[in-house]
Amino acid sequence: MKKQTVRPAKRLTGGVAPPGDKSISHRYAMLAALAEGASELRHFSAAADCRSTLDCMSALGAEVKIEKDAVRIVGRGPRGLKGSWRALDAGNSGTTMRLLAGILSGQGFASKLTGDDSLQKRPMKRVVLPLREMGADIRARDDNFAPLEIRGAKLRAIDYKMPVPSAQVKSAVLLAGLFAEGATTVAEPARTRDHTELALEEFGAAIEKHGRTTTIHGLLGGNSSGALKAKSLDVPGDLSSAVFFIAAASLLPDSNLLLHNVGLNPTRTAILDLFAAMGASLQMLSLKSAQGEVAGDLSVKGASLKGGVIEGEQIPLLIDELPMLAVLGPFTEEGIEIRDAAELRVKESDRIAALADNLRRMGATVEERPDGLRVEGSKAGRLRGAEIDPRGDHRIAMAFAVAALAAEGPTVIRDADCAGVSYPTFFEDLERVCER
Ligand code: S3P
Repeated sequence: MKKQTVRPAKRLTGGVAPPGDKSISHRYAMLAALAEGASELRHFSAAADCRSTLDCMSALGAEVKIEKDAVRIVGRGPRGLKGSWRALDAGNSGTTMRLLAGILSGQGFASKLTGDDSLQKRPMKRVVLPLREMGADIRARDDNFAPLEIRGAKLRAIDYKMPVPSAQVKSAVLLAGLFAEGATTVAEPARTRDHTELALEEFGAAIEKHGRTTTIHGLLGGNSSGALKAKSLDVPGDLSSAVFFIAAASLLPDSNLLLHNVGLNPTRTAILDLFAAMGASLQMLSLKSAQGEVAGDLSVKGASLKGGVIEGEQIPLLIDELPMLAVLGPFTEEGIEIRDAAELRVKESDRIAALADNLRRMGATVEERPDGLRVEGSKAGRLRGAEIDPRGDHRIAMAFAVAALAAEGPTVIRDADCAGVSYPTFFEDLERVCER
């Protein structure tokens, strides 16, 4: 377990190209394994989470070759996957487990899906229930937790109104819908990221979206070609990784940083609107669109941030950015308040507790609430370097590394390697652009 010391910095300059988007990489890898023939996925995420997905797809019979930052996957066709004799290991990745549960529910074999200690504590009932409604035979520990035992079955299409706004639940049902007879419809209570819908369309599935309702036609029905096409695709950079650099460059006056090729899908960019509303100096440059996804460069300069309240329908669109936003609180004029985000308690760690604990270690004034937290702004005093316990959570580790740059004295991040779950070269990239 590596400890990483982060010292205060004067400013950030130069450029960073964040790793390929984690959410998109998972989806492309799964669909490539279900397609017929060879797909090439360029700028595929180096995240440990996406490696878990690749290992699972390989154990299910797809041919997976990793070449620098591209991945070549030879798919076996929608009916060509094979059962794995050993348990499929999703590691720390909720996306791997929940999306794969959808796919495995419709296969002609049984599977066991497991994960690390953190993933085994995260709720799976949210996917188990709709998948059972489709006819899946799934057993879970205490009917809610991994390991999941999934016996593939003939699935029926359903109309599903999701009780929680979750892209993972929506995706699990849509992927199972590929194997169901008829048209499966999913309605979401609030907008969530739409990478699954875009990727399904790209690989040739019959899918329609009307507002917050998405319909997918089973591959065996008349509305579908019966197969998925192999594709050659570029994964845009991960905005959720870029956000740590946007925050760091904003915090340090005189910063001037360029973030290259960042994914700017509108279901992910609420964070940029929020930064702009808080007074950040952000500019989007050279936008391009491919495969339904949008990417561009972002220029960020130092600025003073106002802070504010984040709540309601904003929450699912910013869910992965909330740790960074909370940690920015003590550097803002008004502080940061997060409401309606009880979901944060069932992420890779209980993020509300992890944030409150570590912010207090650095001297912040924090009120922890069941569904969020209030972090007082700069009037409550400057943060001091401290020893941070990220609780194995990549986003907590990276958020506090950013705070450390603007704190007084050095900060030690325990178990800093956990950043590799989404961003293996985070600390090197950060050091490279820091001026002290
Ligand atoms: C993800 C969806 C979000 C997000 C997670 C990745 C995805 O989770 O927090 O990091 O790739 O679909 P929920 O859908 O559970 O909110």
